[in-house]
Amino acid sequence: MSAPALRLDGVRYLHRQAKSLLPWRRSIARSGGVEEVSITVASGTTLGLIGESGCGKSTLASLIMGDRVPQAGTIDLFGRPLAQRLGRGRKALARELQMVAQDPFGSMDPRQAIGPQLVETLDVHDEGSSAGERRDRALAMLVQVGLSEINYARLPHQLSGGQRQRVSIARALILKPRMLVCDEPVSALDVSVQAQVLNLLLDLQEQMNLTMVFISHDIRVVGHMSHAIAVMQAGRIVEQGAAETVLANPRHEYSRTLFAAVPGRVTVAKPARLLESAL
Ligand SMILES: Nc1ncnc2c1ncn2[C@@H]1O[C@H](COP(=O)(O)OP(=O)(O)OP(=O)(O)O)[C@@H](O)[C@H]1O
Ligand SMILES: [Mg+2]
Repeated sequence: MSAPALRLDGVRYLHRQAKSLLPWRRSIARSGGVEEVSITVASGTTLGLIGESGCGKSTLASLIMGDRVPQAGTIDLFGRPLAQRLGRGRKALARELQMVAQDPFGSMDPRQAIGPQLVETLDVHDEGSSAGERRDRALAMLVQVGLSEINYARLPHQLSGGQRQRVSIARALILKPRMLVCDEPVSALDVSVQAQVLNLLLDLQEQMNLTMVFISHDIRVVGHMSHAIAVMQAGRIVEQGAAETVLANPRHEYSRTLFAAVPGRVTVAKPARLLESAL
């Protein structure tokens, strides 16, 4: 039994919200966020996280990424506390853990071409022995995500939504991380393009032995991507287990309601045997 890639134990993060603007009532209420979240993700597998809008999925993603610090509980990444890793600086963490978000525009420099943005990431992390080598690696990464080399010199706005999402996947993977957190990575794309990007992620997972946390409000997408599924409601995980089990036989009332809203059968593409070390 190997250690899980990711383990959250009793994690809480409640957002601070001013209750009132009146000075004599200016107490801080905590509402919205996540509470008592315990999940485990086996190395090389995908945990799908599903739940309705506002239930806390992105808050959980930001905790895993180290962008927020839990108010309670612990997060272990590859067998070591995340807090310890953050202490040594984010730069080292970036080599192990990366994120793909819904809106790739948000994190891209609109005035810099795609290729040079990838090269810059390699530069910042002292990767590659020469400018030429970094350029070659950036080109190879573009090709690996299904973009032709022509796109190297293109600006973000010159690409389609699907191509832009491929670029953000390239940027997330160019440092060869071991774990990828995807927060609604295809929600902004047309359905036909969604399938292409999802299948690309599946291929890359196999090629790079990636561990993934895959967040979506779309149960069909989660079913397609995940070995295990965790269902979140109002900041808490109400059910989790092997994807097939959770989808075929949801135990929690909320999961049943969530799945019943989807017409047809949700299919699971991933073998559960990889989960043995985590469940
Ligand atoms: N920075 C913040 N300050 C205060 N409250 C916040 C903040 N970010 C999120 N929240 C609240 O925390 C709750 C969870 O938000 P979160 O973004 O994690 O949900 P989500 O599941 O990702 O939703 P969606 O599916 O719409 O992306 C919501 O009630 C939200 O209003
Ligand atoms: Mg969100």
